[in-house]
Amino acid sequence: MRKLVVGAVSVSLWVFLSLAVYAGGAKEAPATAGAAQQTKLEIFSWWTAGGEAEGLNALYDVYHQQYPKVEIINATIAGGAGTNAKAVLSTRLTGGDPPDGFQLHAGLEVEKYDPVRYLQPLDSLYASAGLDKAFPKDLLALLKYKGHYWGVPVNIHRANVMWYNKKLFADNNLKPPKTWGEFLSVADVFRSKGIIPLVIGTKEGWEAGHTFETFLISALGADGYRGLWNGATKWSDPRVTSALETFKRLVSYVNSDYSALTWDQAAQYLVDNKGAMHIMGDWTNGWFTSKGYTGYGWQPVPGTAGIYDALSDSFVVPKGARNEVNAMNWLSVCGSKAGQEAFNPKKGSIPARTDCNPALFNEYLQSAMKDWSSDAIVPSVVHGAAAVEKWATVYKDILNSFVTKGDVAATQAALEQAASENLSM
Ligand code: GAL
Repeated sequence: MRKLVVGAVSVSLWVFLSLAVYAGGAKEAPATAGAAQQTKLEIFSWWTAGGEAEGLNALYDVYHQQYPKVEIINATIAGGAGTNAKAVLSTRLTGGDPPDGFQLHAGLEVEKYDPVRYLQPLDSLYASAGLDKAFPKDLLALLKYKGHYWGVPVNIHRANVMWYNKKLFADNNLKPPKTWGEFLSVADVFRSKGIIPLVIGTKEGWEAGHTFETFLISALGADGYRGLWNGATKWSDPRVTSALETFKRLVSYVNSDYSALTWDQAAQYLVDNKGAMHIMGDWTNGWFTSKGYTGYGWQPVPGTAGIYDALSDSFVVPKGARNEVNAMNWLSVCGSKAGQEAFNPKKGSIPARTDCNPALFNEYLQSAMKDWSSDAIVPSVVHGAAAVEKWATVYKDILNSFVTKGDVAATQAALEQAASENLSM
């Protein structure tokens, strides 16, 4: 039986529940006094890159069809993984100036926003709109924190994907590597031909941590990796050392301008036939699609086949939202079949709902849907599922400096220290 373990919480198989029909949920939001005056809806997110922006706009279109009189204010703060958005958001919440709705990862990230104080619990929306029957059980468990639902998920993303340029592999008679040994062999060939073997951009400070969590999964397997977040696996484990060593070796094959590039700028090397491989989440699929680029292949990061490093984007409504009725309707659209079928094909993610039509999705996403239904699911740390934000931030900073410094022992010691401080929380 597959298990998702998040921190100390273990939840059972992500079951594809049969579907409760969720029709017209958007109309079921509570009517509160003053609703008639609410003509706006401010939605806060970090979705500005190709694919991200198109997906969000598609969701706005669905909202507009249902609520044509409401003006949507698209409040975005650019920066992958919410690097810049999260800080602004905290200031707005504590300063009493919340947006009407904002983007939040499912999982322990919610702890950062002190939900009991700042967010609306959504249990009655879940019940009235049938959301408690629309999502897999284990996603529901991930969404529950302190006994309540705080967010409505729009998708599931996969973090452990290795994208590659099919032409460069074909031109050089190479096969995408399944092991790190094979990876090093193909990387040597590419390097000798003047092609960047592995592209990465670390400008925003989270990308190295993202890459490394996939190396941890590769070295530790699903159970070993889960154990890092609940104390069952020690950060002093020799397999963590080996993951760091793998990362260090791979850094010698990356583009020299890595610290100046964002994840999507790095992916451009593949589009330009200058870079062979890129380890990044499947929002890259949305980005490639938005560029009209089709020359890419994909496979799990070496050593992680059969494991789905998962995260989910949700939307929440803060207490004191100025346009609360509109915001609750927004959540209903986010959770609806129509909303998820419009959003996900463009965003490059699979729906959180279990009843969406696979024919609407491209080949990569159809393969992701299959993997999602059979793989072992593990929670992403960089994208909010596995650990509280404070820990995830320390983890990201440690890995970001590892890329330039390459000190395996000091990095592992710092990771052990971070775990000891946060596991006891
Ligand atoms: C993740 C988010 C994705 C994608 C990515 C890059 O944290 O969950 O939806 O936007 O960041 O920005």
